[in-house]
Amino acid sequence: MPRHLAVIMDGNGRWAQQRRRPRIIGHRAGARAVRNTIDFCLQQGVEVLTLYAFSSENWRRPEEEVSGLMRIFLNVLDTEVSELARRGVRIRFIGDREAFSDALRSKMQHTETLSGANAKLTLVIAASYGGQQDIAHAARVLAQQVADGQLAAQDITAAKLAEHVALSDLPEVDLCIRTGGDLRISNFLLWQIAYSELWFTPVLWPDVDEKLLSQAFNDYAQRQRRFGMTGEQIDAGAGAALNP
Ligand code: IPE
Ligand code: IPE
Ligand code: MG
Repeated sequence: MPRHLAVIMDGNGRWAQQRRRPRIIGHRAGARAVRNTIDFCLQQGVEVLTLYAFSSENWRRPEEEVSGLMRIFLNVLDTEVSELARRGVRIRFIGDREAFSDALRSKMQHTETLSGANAKLTLVIAASYGGQQDIAHAARVLAQQVADGQLAAQDITAAKLAEHVALSDLPEVDLCIRTGGDLRISNFLLWQIAYSELWFTPVLWPDVDEKLLSQAFNDYAQRQRRFGMTGEQIDAGAGAALNP
C-alpha cells in the first residue's frame, strides 16, 4: 500500500474530443474522477495524495481553455472544500501562486487555513507547478544562505536541497500514476520521484475509477523496490531502514 500517491491526471481533452465535445467538458468530467480518487484514498488509508492539476507550461494553452480551467478551479474550491475538510482532508497547494488571480489565491489560502488541522488525508494540488522550477527555487534558497554566510558551499548536499523542494515534510512519493497513455513526466515532481514506482495507463483521466486504482495498487504491491541494493538484501529486510 503506497503511503503517498501522486497522479498526473492526463487525457481530459481527448476524452471530450472522442465525444465531439469541447475540451472544457473533459475538464469538468475530470473533476468527477478527482472525487473518485479522493474517496478511494480515504477508504484505503493513503496518507498523501498529490494531484497534478495544472503545469507551469499549461499557461501556453489557448486563453479560452485556460480561463475555463480557472473557472472550474474556483467552482471546485467553492463547492467541495468544506465537505472535504469535514471528512478530515487537509488541502495544500504547490506551484507558483502568483500566477493566479487574486480571487483564486485567496480561496487557496482560505482552503489551507480551513483544512490545516486535518490529519486523515493530505491532498496536495500541484497548480502552476513545474518540477524544474521547484528545484531552481530550492537552489535559490541555498544560494541565498551561502551569500548570507549561513551555509558553506561545500555543505550543499542532496539532503540539504531536499529540505527546500516541495513536499519535503511529507512521506516520499511511493507510486506515481500517469493516465492518458503518454509515457512522460511533463515537468511534474522530478526530485521527489527519484525512487518512486511509475505506473502508466492508456485510460483517460475522466474514465478513472476505483477499479483502475485498485489495479495500480495491486501492481505496486507486486514490485520490489530495491533503492540501489540487491534483491537478496531487500529480502533480508535491508529496505525497511531506507523506507520506514
Ligand atoms: C489534463 O488533460 C488536464 C490538464 C492538463 C489541465 P489534458 O487537457 O492535457 O488532456 P489531453 O492530454 O489533451 O487529452
Ligand atoms: C501534464 O499534462 C500536466 C497535467 C496533467 C496537469 P499535459 O497534457 O500538459 O502534458 P504534455 O504537454 O502532453 O506533456
Ligand atoms: Mg494532456
